[in-house]
Amino acid sequence: MAIYPCCFSFLLVSLFVSFCYAEIRLTEIRHDDRPIIPFDEFGFTHSGRLELNVSNIALSNQNPDLDMSKVGFFLCTRDAWMQVLLQIEDGYINCALNSDFVKLVFEFKQLKGKSNSFNTVYQENTADQYTLVFANCLSHVKVSMDVRSAMYNLDGKEKHRDYLSAGKTILPRVYFIFALVYFTLAGIWIYVLYLKRLTVFRIHLFMLAVIILKAVNLLCEAEDKSYIKRTGSAHGWDVLFYIFSFLKGVMLFTLIVLIGTGWSFLKPYLQDKEKNVLMVVIPLQVVANVAQIVIDETGPFGHDWMVWKQVFLLVDVVCCCAVLFPIVWSIKNLREAAKTDGKAAVNLMKLTLFRQYYIVVICYIYFTRVVVYALVTITSYKYLWTSVVAGEVATLAFYVFTGYKFKPEPHNPYFVIDDEEEEAAAEQLKLEDEFEL
Ligand SMILES: *[C@@H]1O[C@H](CO)[C@@H](O)[C@H](O)[C@H]1NC(C)=O
Repeated sequence: MAIYPCCFSFLLVSLFVSFCYAEIRLTEIRHDDRPIIPFDEFGFTHSGRLELNVSNIALSNQNPDLDMSKVGFFLCTRDAWMQVLLQIEDGYINCALNSDFVKLVFEFKQLKGKSNSFNTVYQENTADQYTLVFANCLSHVKVSMDVRSAMYNLDGKEKHRDYLSAGKTILPRVYFIFALVYFTLAGIWIYVLYLKRLTVFRIHLFMLAVIILKAVNLLCEAEDKSYIKRTGSAHGWDVLFYIFSFLKGVMLFTLIVLIGTGWSFLKPYLQDKEKNVLMVVIPLQVVANVAQIVIDETGPFGHDWMVWKQVFLLVDVVCCCAVLFPIVWSIKNLREAAKTDGKAAVNLMKLTLFRQYYIVVICYIYFTRVVVYALVTITSYKYLWTSVVAGEVATLAFYVFTGYKFKPEPHNPYFVIDDEEEEAAAEQLKLEDEFEL
């Protein structure tokens, strides 16, 4: 059973992940001697703006003869950055600020008199994805300052500010549509439960809760993104979004474990080792969500961003692998039961169902973790939303499959099966044994 290849390629691909954020961001730089400090990345359209407000500037060296044209902010695309690095390597220039591949936003020599702050608006009319970068080419000079950066595009005729990056500006609509789809699914599920109310198990109500949480979570995400789009900050919607993300994450993983163990429709209780899986997965989900919040709030170039990113990925991999074990145990138990209790046909049916479920869970995890991240890295910044859609479609397919396969049905193990069917099933189980499928 291929648990490990999935985890491994997941780790591999995640190393190449990149994100881009777009909110108004406040950053405090304190006694920093890094020659290059990257800030946020943003996809500009033809009417992009960068608003930069820097205050409390202080250099560790107060010498008035310092060459202040070697300190400043610029915008740069990834390709241009490669060219700049080449130029520096060739000795053609000695400071990124001097390269003609970068777009100079502000040089500190423009600071007037004794002023220790500046405000500037930079217009970017060439559509592309840029990173705001601070360069300090003075050696042994530490910089302190408070940076407020806001990047946005001016949209439509009314020139509304759009704080979402070019490839993400339709995300609020995308999330809203998916939220509607899940609310519809919840409605359908309630109807199915009502029709088959005599054979409804507790697991079916649990599934209903998971669908509703997913729908509410998408709604919060739509509102969160739409608020950022209009104002550049999340203003509380992110809190709701994180709460529902957490609940949804815990419930979904629990649901996969419960279905995987056959809880409530194969057996009423969980075994100890199955409970242990839940004991591992649920606290890890707490950690994963804390990491996610820190990642979102600090931006890709914060000090500890990479650490939290790795924590998140590691925890996610462990959770994904952990939920597979109960399914494997169930498959093993069913195979053993098939040999001993003589009800070959019924057991074969269940066995097939659990194997399908196992494969679908692996595909779901693989697609939402590996393929979607790969898509993020290979698609152009203008189409970043497509990876979100791909991930949501895969998730939707997983929910629909789970609901369809495990819908309430009369699970009567004594339903009539004629001898021929029973024999054929026994034969197939024997065959499987020989090949150890
Ligand atoms: C930042 O600078 C811009 C351009 O001068 C100015 O319009 C804006 O009000 C400033 N914002 C803050 C918060 O100081």
